[in-house]
Amino acid sequence: MKFELSDQTCLTWSGDCLVVGLSEAAIPLSGSLAELNDRVSGLLQELIDEAEFTGKAGTKAVIRVGNGVRKLGLVGLGAADSLNADTLRRAAAAAARLAKQEKCTSLGLSLPVVDNDPALSTQAVTQAAIEGVTLALHQDDRFKSDEADKGKTTLETIHLLESQGQDTSLEAAQAICDGVILARELVSAPANVVTPETLAQTAQEIATAHGLELEILEREQCEALGMGAYLGVAQASDLPPKFIHLTYKPAATPSHKLAIIGKGLTFDSGGLNIKGAGSGIEMMKMDMGGAAATLGAAKAIAQLKPSAEVHFISAAAENMISGKAMRPGDILTASNGKTIEVNNTDAEGRLTLADALVFAEKLEVDAIVDLATLTGACIVALGDDIAGLFSDHDDLATAIAQAAETAGEKFWRLPMEEKYFEGLKSIVADMKNTGPRPGGSITAALFLKQFVEHTPWVHLDVAGPVWTEKESGYNNPGGTGFGVRTLVQWVSAM
Ligand code: BES
Ligand code: MN
Ligand code: ZN
Repeated sequence: MKFELSDQTCLTWSGDCLVVGLSEAAIPLSGSLAELNDRVSGLLQELIDEAEFTGKAGTKAVIRVGNGVRKLGLVGLGAADSLNADTLRRAAAAAARLAKQEKCTSLGLSLPVVDNDPALSTQAVTQAAIEGVTLALHQDDRFKSDEADKGKTTLETIHLLESQGQDTSLEAAQAICDGVILARELVSAPANVVTPETLAQTAQEIATAHGLELEILEREQCEALGMGAYLGVAQASDLPPKFIHLTYKPAATPSHKLAIIGKGLTFDSGGLNIKGAGSGIEMMKMDMGGAAATLGAAKAIAQLKPSAEVHFISAAAENMISGKAMRPGDILTASNGKTIEVNNTDAEGRLTLADALVFAEKLEVDAIVDLATLTGACIVALGDDIAGLFSDHDDLATAIAQAAETAGEKFWRLPMEEKYFEGLKSIVADMKNTGPRPGGSITAALFLKQFVEHTPWVHLDVAGPVWTEKESGYNNPGGTGFGVRTLVQWVSAM
């Protein structure tokens, strides 16, 4: 499947399937759309009438035309004044799904450009279209053996109409999709395939392919750094922990130094507080969704070459049970010297992140962002599609929120209510790792805060959106690659 940046319009292009994005304001037809209707002998108007197509976002319709274009499709863009890059990404995804369903080999895609809006320039529209199409058509067949089960597509060429010369958008979109797809595949792969060791290998592959620096800290090195919280989580597994530190350095003096940390639990059994039936334990392969987004962002950023230096970090481990397991009630000492009473071994992500945050701060970065499938409570609060955003630093929180808006990923800021730290008070240690059930995402964030001294920091609880059961927009069932686009957008805007 390849993209062609074409100077053709919907009036001149011919091929297998032409799909036009229409906003609600485009109906009744006028101007070039009326001309297109003439070109197809009135079949466009007939399609609008028969399908009762109004241009509503998320709707589509298709009709057979012949005469240079075999099929004509419409995808709704919603109200013209609420048009944004994400609407276009979703419309492009719908167009790609339509062309696939109609067994087309070529797709000509026409989406509107808004001249006075930089967010909807030819460049932005081209990039959104490529992202939408690529992500919608990506299907993960790695673990299917039956050819018939593989979601093959007949699509060979996608012609983006009126986009000639937008080569940098094509490259940017492909870099971003590379990253999102890597993250999806890491999340979707089971825990017997993606282990701390293979996560480290993936980091190695990125480093080798794109010239990044890589440091993998083995257990002994982490011990020497005093990472008792992280190692406590890792100690029951037969698989050794791998502390991943991948670094992108721009050619010139960096404009900023940033750290991105991803929770990297390749499997979370809960430990001795083992997850019971109905807890979703069989889904806990996705507990490295933060690490997946981190590595996905690294893969994209390595290709996009922004001006900031970026450290990609994950304290990867597996939370298991064995005679070596940490016991509920054990006291661990993190690398900043703070002691933690582990009152629940299933609140393990924050223990691994504690040492990763201390490590990141020692790098003297200007900002730290962590992404973690940290709490079920965040899913209860915000549902499957929205991630929690926590920060005491308004400027950084705003920068992340703006990046997310552009990227079309949803976050909602939740309070870092200091008073709730009382729920983590321990009689014997500096703190417990688990507070009461109410406000569980907030106490988790407050726990992490104990490991960041002065660096601006945002914590993103991505437990819900890293996985989806259903096809929606440009996502397919499985890992979503959530977080990659926001991270890339944030770093690129620095
Ligand atoms: N990995 C889980 C959080 C999670 C739950 C992610 C569901 C995705 C879907 C985390 O390690 C965990 O077990 N959290 C506990 C914390 C509790 C013990 C304080 C939870 O949310 O129940
Ligand atoms: Mn857990
Ligand atoms: Zn977990």
